[in-house]
Amino acid sequence: MKIGVLVSGGGSNLQAIMDAVSVGVLDVEIVCVGADNSGAGGLNRAEKAGIPTFVTDYSAHFARWKEGVPAPDDFSLEAVADRQSLMKGAAPAALKGFLEKRAIAEADLLAQLAPYKLDLLVLAGFMRVFTPYFIDGFTTGSDLPRIMNIHPALLPAFPGTDGYGDTFRYGCKVGGCTVHFVDYGEDSGPIIGQSSFPILPGDDLDAVKEKGLAEEWRLFPECIRLYAEGRLKVVEHQGTRVVEILPAG
Ligand code: GAR
Repeated sequence: MKIGVLVSGGGSNLQAIMDAVSVGVLDVEIVCVGADNSGAGGLNRAEKAGIPTFVTDYSAHFARWKEGVPAPDDFSLEAVADRQSLMKGAAPAALKGFLEKRAIAEADLLAQLAPYKLDLLVLAGFMRVFTPYFIDGFTTGSDLPRIMNIHPALLPAFPGTDGYGDTFRYGCKVGGCTVHFVDYGEDSGPIIGQSSFPILPGDDLDAVKEKGLAEEWRLFPECIRLYAEGRLKVVEHQGTRVVEILPAG
């Protein structure tokens, strides 16, 4: 199975996935690593391991949109706006800008990923949301979702960009991380796996992050392994799409 990994930062989850592959507990091939910024430390980790890398510079694409570069030819504002649930209730002009500038970046990302013919795209600390333009463009022809994300909170609590921070500031006594398929909302797709840890008196935010990352490094390769073994099935349960984990063999 060919997987691609996207990162925005240091890439410790990417490292955990690469390590699981190299010790033989995860039977996949990591064929490319991409980032939304050229400073992402994960790119260096990939290069050291001899994995091809690329950058889709989101900030540069957003600047191009500001200068008047139009959305891609195959982008339909109406169709994408109808399907998305990232910006519910937003004013039409704000939604248009939000979707159009992302579609410009996403078209570049789709083009850079296309040659690798991936079975699965793994978001390992990738700090961008995808619009339906990207998700449908990437997933075409597949029944099973093909984009998997790790989130630093026990979803559906604390979606967004600072899962551990939000968990800690709320005074939670348990924190955790979640691996899920990506759908048209923010951190709202079917949950594949979760892992939790206690938040003890005296723990500061750094301690919470440290405990959380240790869980992530174990959980993420495990969820990718279930996917690679064909053991994940998305089913409808009381109106919600949930993941059923099939027995081994
Ligand atoms: C991880 O904690 C991951 O859960 C989080 O970013 C960190 C990346 O660390 N992802 C998100 O917040 C996605 N919304 P890493 O670069 O060391 O793997």
